[in-house]
Amino acid sequence: MKLLLLGSGGREHALAWKISQSPKVEKLYIAPGNPGTASVGENVDIKADDFEGIARLVTGKGIDMVVVGPEDPLVKGIADYFSNDERLRTVPVIGPSRAGAQLEGSKDFAKEFMNRHNIPTARHKSVTKDNIDEGLRFLHTLTAPFVLKADGLCAGKGVLIVPTIEEAEKELREMLGGMFGNASATVVIEEYLQGIECSVFALTDGKSYKLLPEAKDYKRIGEGDRGLNTGGMGSVSPVPFATAEWLKKVEDRIVRPTVEGLKADGIDYRGFIFFGLMNVGGDPMVIEYNVRMGDPETESVMLRLKSDIVDLFEGVARGDLDARSIEFDERTAVCVMLVSGGYPQHYDKGYPITGLDKVDGSIVFHAGTAVKDGRTVTAGGRVMAVSSYGKDKDEALAKSFANADAINFDKKYFRHDIGFDL
Ligand code: AMP
Ligand code: GLY
Repeated sequence: MKLLLLGSGGREHALAWKISQSPKVEKLYIAPGNPGTASVGENVDIKADDFEGIARLVTGKGIDMVVVGPEDPLVKGIADYFSNDERLRTVPVIGPSRAGAQLEGSKDFAKEFMNRHNIPTARHKSVTKDNIDEGLRFLHTLTAPFVLKADGLCAGKGVLIVPTIEEAEKELREMLGGMFGNASATVVIEEYLQGIECSVFALTDGKSYKLLPEAKDYKRIGEGDRGLNTGGMGSVSPVPFATAEWLKKVEDRIVRPTVEGLKADGIDYRGFIFFGLMNVGGDPMVIEYNVRMGDPETESVMLRLKSDIVDLFEGVARGDLDARSIEFDERTAVCVMLVSGGYPQHYDKGYPITGLDKVDGSIVFHAGTAVKDGRTVTAGGRVMAVSSYGKDKDEALAKSFANADAINFDKKYFRHDIGFDL
């Protein structure tokens, strides 16, 4: 079959790498892709949210399936766009409808959904300018630190964790006053959960689901998990505290109620669900939903998926996912992100990347790279993910760190302590 993958980051290179291994795929297009995805498929210069351009590509090339990498096109309704168009209706989209994508697109929607379906999550109150007093009263029922979340999508920047009640009151007013534009016209105030995070992924056809390997990501820029939040500096799969017993709690209390809740609410959901969880004293609680795979989790999770991912996608499209099998690689997989110095604040682009030919024993996924005058150069904050297998995390990390040293560009930075807390 001919398959189109939308997106352009490290997650999409890892997905493209895995998809291209499927014997079912005769041709893989990536829109817009990056220099890494060009090595496993054909890049097409169309943006992931240019629905008209995508429609022309799909009909023109006779594409049989569309897999959506990032959340943006989903929140904007690409699945609905396809199902409402006669020419596109028969082409399955792996990704939820706009209504389903609200699980990520609106934190208030996600909280209401969890409360309605008894899914464990932090206590919360949603406020707007009209009920700010209720919000302030709710803040005073909580203990420090205080968590304030912009309701809408903010490219990962919409969550503030503030140490004092005075700052929380001030930030709440500023958020409602437009700190994140319209995305913070509603703010979710929530209880702070103390614990360790884990990312759990499921693929669902709307009736049943398959769990994928879980992973832990490292969001802070600095070693020891300090400093500013980033898109993610590395990941490890499996996660030692995610035992079979813990994962059973996750399935029973969170994954199954989510899939059943979507069905009960009449929401068309066929795609990935990313459960951002906190392990609170042995009990999983939901911090957030995302409606896509994680980045950089995908760059380790795809290494651990033994089964043909396109067979699973077909199960999602045909509604017989239940009948498909899923197998994991028993080894550990990790990824270490190479980033541009200065990221997540100001950084420069266009530095030539050398040493890729010296990489031995790792798989390199491109995130923010470009080709300029025939050379691969940096083109983003997160530049490349160096992914490796090992019999345990230490062996896998040793490979990724050695290859992270072998690759060079001006102002390269990476965290040397990925997995330190496991
Ligand atoms: P989010 O954008 O929802 O993933 O939030 C960003 C990060 O803030 C999460 O990965 C957590 O580390 C942290 N966070 C969010 N909500 C909470 C909470 N209720 N308690 C503790 N930490 C949180
Ligand atoms: N790694 C977290 C995310 O993709 O949102």
